[in-house]
Amino acid sequence: MVIFGAAGDLAKRKLFPALYYLSALNQLPEHFAILGVSREDFSTESYRELMNTESRVHLDADYSEDVWKRLIKCSYYLQGDFRDPAAYQALAEKLCKLDDQHKIPGNYLFYMATPPAFFGDIAEQIAAAGLTTEQDGHWRRLVIEKPFGRDLQSARDLNRRLLNVFDEHQLYRIDHYLGKETVQNFLAFRFANGVIEPIWNRRYIDHVQITVAEPLGVENRASYYEGTGALRDMVPNHLLAVLAIIAMEPPISFNADEIRDEQAKVLRAIQPLTPEEVLIHTVRGQYGSGVMGDGTHVAAYRQEAGVAKDSQTETFVALSLMIDSWRWAGVPFYLRTGKRLPGRFTEIMIQYKHAPNAAFKRSILKEKRVEPNVMVLRIQPSEGISLGINAKVPGQALQLSPVEMNFSYDDYFGNEPSTGYETLIYDCMQGDPTLFKRADIIEIAWQLMEPILDIWSALPPRDFPNYAAGEWGPSEADDLLQRDGRSWRICTPGGCVRRTNNE
Ligand code: BG6
Repeated sequence: MVIFGAAGDLAKRKLFPALYYLSALNQLPEHFAILGVSREDFSTESYRELMNTESRVHLDADYSEDVWKRLIKCSYYLQGDFRDPAAYQALAEKLCKLDDQHKIPGNYLFYMATPPAFFGDIAEQIAAAGLTTEQDGHWRRLVIEKPFGRDLQSARDLNRRLLNVFDEHQLYRIDHYLGKETVQNFLAFRFANGVIEPIWNRRYIDHVQITVAEPLGVENRASYYEGTGALRDMVPNHLLAVLAIIAMEPPISFNADEIRDEQAKVLRAIQPLTPEEVLIHTVRGQYGSGVMGDGTHVAAYRQEAGVAKDSQTETFVALSLMIDSWRWAGVPFYLRTGKRLPGRFTEIMIQYKHAPNAAFKRSILKEKRVEPNVMVLRIQPSEGISLGINAKVPGQALQLSPVEMNFSYDDYFGNEPSTGYETLIYDCMQGDPTLFKRADIIEIAWQLMEPILDIWSALPPRDFPNYAAGEWGPSEADDLLQRDGRSWRICTPGGCVRRTNNE
């Protein structure tokens, strides 16, 4: 496995820990080596030391020292400039040596964990060095990290450059949300349970909310985030990946292309927003200073290191989308993500339609309606599925109270530490592209973002910062749902409630 950008954050925080967990489960090939490549001046020895100090800290507390050492022992380093052909000659020679040394049959997994500006160049240089050719039964695969382009045109250009030198079957466009165990489990939940599919449509569902809330700020990523913002960083990739899994039609098999065809189909059915609709159906925000749930005072986005004092970059986005399909016509999908929100909550809420009130009209409910059933699919922090139902409060009076049926993954399957990258790296080594993005899926997602990006750049925000750190985004995000007579589900470590109009 060749990691370009080997000394960077992703390699340290995610890739090495993921390789460690795979190794602990004996899921790495018997003959295996890692070759880190980057511009920094390391020897193999000092690179191993770097990983020992800066990557090991990201492992679960009870990691095995032996497994870690085994991994580090098969890690090597090559210094090189990503745009210099000589670096790739050196790479080819080094790979030959490692093949011999570790008895590797010439299978190479190239992983681009670099800034996106290098993706096209690296792919072309690998090809020019003759390293893409698959022959004598070995394979050559390329993993491309996100962000894949920054708009439709750049995504198309990158796809074109990659497809000039690699075949589609060699390309693995990663979205780590698809590697999350619970996200994959939604497929099993929907299609392996006879009771779910019949009520998974517009006849029963009122609307869907997809939330990815993070308490973290921009951290040390201002140079990337300033030019990217919350929309590009999260929506065309992670949020639409989750939406596609929730909304896709049942595939005729779990074959990679059958699944991806259905995902592409549902994304294609999303109505692109018109310029007028962008103004009504999208909300952007940027955090100011504030107090987080644990009492910590945090700085405004514009005060973070590396951020412009008058930055117009959004750190929050909420939007509503409609899917023009037989199953989903008329059911809004509300999407929301942001930094410095009150907690880490990634979940999908499916709100069912109200039950008719007839039976309760003359009793305590009077003018009020019976609470709708709500199904919540939790991705983070505590994976699980819950269903809110109405129950009668014990006693003589007929009184209803919402209660929750709750399934938690940990209770049944225990809690295996994971980064979300294990499955993806493993699948790539197995040659299974099911959980990776196809070129068309990436382009459809960017196509949907185009009108939003256009209007947002034509009309810069005037009210940034418009939410305080530790709040659930700007008030316009609440208006987005309140206009439709709905409200966001909001969670804190103490529990989840519906936000009412006057909160
Ligand atoms: C990354 C984004 O792709 O996903 C980050 O670039 C974001 O800004 C992260 O914090 C969220 O991933 P997770 O797995 O922590 O929910």
